[in-house]
Amino acid sequence: MLVSSCLLVRLAILLSVVLVQSCEGQSWAAFQNKHIDYPRTQASNPSAYCNLMMVKRNLNPITCKPRNTFINYDNESVLQVCGSGGTCWQYNLYDSNEYFPMIDCSYTDGKPPKDCKYKGTETCKRVRVACEEKKPVHLEKLL
Ligand SMILES: *[C@@H]1O[C@H](CO)[C@@H](O)[C@H](O)[C@H]1NC(C)=O
Repeated sequence: MLVSSCLLVRLAILLSVVLVQSCEGQSWAAFQNKHIDYPRTQASNPSAYCNLMMVKRNLNPITCKPRNTFINYDNESVLQVCGSGGTCWQYNLYDSNEYFPMIDCSYTDGKPPKDCKYKGTETCKRVRVACEEKKPVHLEKLL
């Protein structure tokens, strides 16, 4: 009995470490690395842009991320989506009032970490973000 409760405590500690680590990606700093590039990095076309940016931002360390969007607009305006620049959709999810220029990247083929290939689509959309402490921490979807 003593042994198994000790094991349970260890498992609980292990689990909380794993949970904390998986939440570390959920910060405004991580959001900016993943989703904001302004002024936009130069590339010959949207797909070349995606291939370059996914490596530059180190977003494919182990697997090729199936999809990622880079907003090409200033971080201050994106930050405002959690405040006056957005409208609460539900819970902590906010829809931007503005349309932002962006490049949406979808994985096509290739291998991590350096050779993941993407199809890039240049577009201008509103975004739905999850906010924590009035800062975007997760890009939920494009609207
Ligand atoms: C916006 O990005 C710049 C450059 O990375 C950074 O110094 C600044 O703190 C960011 N602003 C906000 C509101 O996070």
